[in-house]
Amino acid sequence: MKYEFPVTRTTNPKERPADESTMGFARYFTDHMFVMDYDEGQGWHDGRIVPHAPIMIEPASCVLHYAQMMFEGMKAYRRADGEILLFRPDMNEARMKRTNERMCIPELPDGLLVEAVKALISVDADWVPKAPNTALYIRPFIFGDEVSFSVLPAKHYRFMIILSPTGSYYAANDTGLHTTRIYVQDEYIRAAKGGTGFAKCGGNYGGGMRASKEAIKWNCKDVLWLDAAEHKYVEEIGTSNAFFKINGEVITAPLTSGTILPGITRNSVIQMLTKWGVPVSERKLSIDEVMEASKDGSLEEIFASGTAAVISPIGCLCVKGTDYVVANGEVGPLAQKLYDNLYGMQTGKVEDFMGGWVFETGIKVD
Ligand code: COI
Repeated sequence: MKYEFPVTRTTNPKERPADESTMGFARYFTDHMFVMDYDEGQGWHDGRIVPHAPIMIEPASCVLHYAQMMFEGMKAYRRADGEILLFRPDMNEARMKRTNERMCIPELPDGLLVEAVKALISVDADWVPKAPNTALYIRPFIFGDEVSFSVLPAKHYRFMIILSPTGSYYAANDTGLHTTRIYVQDEYIRAAKGGTGFAKCGGNYGGGMRASKEAIKWNCKDVLWLDAAEHKYVEEIGTSNAFFKINGEVITAPLTSGTILPGITRNSVIQMLTKWGVPVSERKLSIDEVMEASKDGSLEEIFASGTAAVISPIGCLCVKGTDYVVANGEVGPLAQKLYDNLYGMQTGKVEDFMGGWVFETGIKVD
């Protein structure tokens, strides 16, 4: 279906990053944003592009009390010829459907997410950064803004998309990669079976901040969550999925428990490794097995994968105050190869060797 979204252009353009190579993650936002409303009986209506600005929200809106919301994370990239590219946006659309279903948020019509993203990017296309290791981060989100204190799904929602020129989530050097320290969280949990772990909703992250605060005390950038039932098996990292290379095998937590966020980068890593003939398993992996492998030298690499994190190698796991150094704290060769191929493909520098992952928007900038 073809959508037409009216555009109200800003009269007050925003400050641009002075240096794209040090602009960090989501510190700048573009000039415009997308907004669309949902009313029970009417469905989704009035999609529009307006200047990025604070929004009015009634203080009794249900999202502010009961957190009925969802979000997605995508990126747009600038190819050398100026074409703006997306990466596997169909996967974001599919995950959004699953999250909406779990959060009782009305489904968006097929294709609307990508059309809205394209329409917004076409207005702010010159915000897609050029510097190496950068991208335009795309944050679609939906929240219930019905005025209601009933613990029931809202009857009114807003769907919005905002854009941010961005560097890597975990600070990087000029080769694009840098190792981080991660704190293994064995007290608090992120998600239990039957909960919302597989869905991209704010509550999963809000509930994790107590653990992130603790990680910072240990000089760590983020937490590695363990499973809720036994506090034994590795699950995911605060912002991203986690991969462990032990004795030649690359291992990541399986999606079957419903507690793991099905990352699009996670899926891409598994498919790329399979194509390269690297053994990869989606299986339960205990933190004891990881510590044992660290001691006997078979722990080769650990890395995080995510839209924001891209591929982020982990140089040290901090377990109950003891450091387990990985690959001498250096960037591992597999993480580097994955990063180079993934980011290379996303920016059009490496051919789309997986076939159909790179999505040309038809939008061009100088
Ligand atoms: C993303 O990678 O897009 C995310 O949503 C992670 C976020 C918590 C930074």
